[in-house]
Amino acid sequence: MTHALFQPIQLGSLSLANRIVMPPMTRSRASQPGNVANDMMAEYYAQRASAGLIVAEGTQISPMGQGYAWTPGIYTPEQIAGWKKVTDAVHANDGAIFAQLWHVGRVTHPDNIGGAQPISSSALKAENVKVFIDNGSDAPGFVDVVEPRAMTQDDINAVIAEYRQAALNAIEAGFDGIELHAANGYLVNQFIDSEANNRTDEYGGSVENRLRFLGEVVQAMIDAIGAERVGVRLAPFTSLNGTVDANPIETYTAAAALLNTLGVVYLHIAEVDWDDAPDTPVAFKQAVREAYQGVIIYAGRYDSEKGAQAINDGLADMIGFGRPFIANPDLPRRIAHNYPWAEHDPATLFGGAEKGLLDYPAYQKS
Ligand SMILES: Cc1cc2nc3c(=O)[nH]c(=O)nc-3n(C[C@H](O)[C@H](O)[C@H](O)COP(=O)(O)O)c2cc1C
Repeated sequence: MTHALFQPIQLGSLSLANRIVMPPMTRSRASQPGNVANDMMAEYYAQRASAGLIVAEGTQISPMGQGYAWTPGIYTPEQIAGWKKVTDAVHANDGAIFAQLWHVGRVTHPDNIGGAQPISSSALKAENVKVFIDNGSDAPGFVDVVEPRAMTQDDINAVIAEYRQAALNAIEAGFDGIELHAANGYLVNQFIDSEANNRTDEYGGSVENRLRFLGEVVQAMIDAIGAERVGVRLAPFTSLNGTVDANPIETYTAAAALLNTLGVVYLHIAEVDWDDAPDTPVAFKQAVREAYQGVIIYAGRYDSEKGAQAINDGLADMIGFGRPFIANPDLPRRIAHNYPWAEHDPATLFGGAEKGLLDYPAYQKS
């Protein structure tokens, strides 16, 4: 039954060994100061290189793009060098790895962005959303986000240029490609979703207008590194970080059609996040399949049976297993042999060092 997950698949010019994806997971262990990927992270990803594709954790494209303390960036020479260690280690183990490029928009606090006011599509505060700060004087911890200011056309042009440069930096760092983080309530999502965008210019209002920023960012990155190295992550139905669309089926089917026209190499749909797990209607998945001809990845509470089923049903091409990859570095082998899966420790997900990152063993038969 699970063999569907082990059919090889082509992703642009990459021949992937299987259809199992390690989706992006923030682990907040970048070296300080400077938010630099490090040897510990290289070993963590190398341990998981038997995934057909790794999408590395959300990585800010600029200082303003950072939402949480200790997450890695990809805009300084030191950060690029840090990521090179990671990509070299994954490639040495025959893995493939994309970078997830991240701008959080309004989901941040001035303490994470040099004292500035956050930016978003609109001057709308995300309600009941907290981010993690480490300001050097108080104990690190969670605080409420603040009201952002609406981006001007100059801001929009500048952020598009940052995405473009980050894509180039990712290739310089040895990544096989990049995933635009347009999901989970961060900046691109703040343009797409109707309830987070009250602009009256060409970036707000109609679906076409709300998708304009997404399209311009993707086009800039494609111009820089080629469509076969650009994937996009969307989260149509979740309300993570307070971002909601009034008509998600219409909006996200149109997004899939736009990304098809642009020719991105994959579409990665986050179906759930944490406990926020709305149903993704089958009719929507069929509409996405019709609208978009590239590789489709789904993630969110999959087990091997359900993942294989989605591929056999023709709705998905690859499946992301998030939390399972944290405690099971050899997850593809466990799926192939039907070995049991270990549970991760929630206390060591974010921050800290090797514990909870590197010390989950491969399965051993007793
Ligand atoms: C610790 C943790 C960190 C995460 N960080 C990110 C992230 O940086 N970017 C992202 O798009 N999704 C992130 N996610 C969501 C996962 O990619 C995935 O969609 C989610 O965990 C659901 O899949 P699962 O049920 O298999 O874990 C994170 C999830 C976890 C558990």
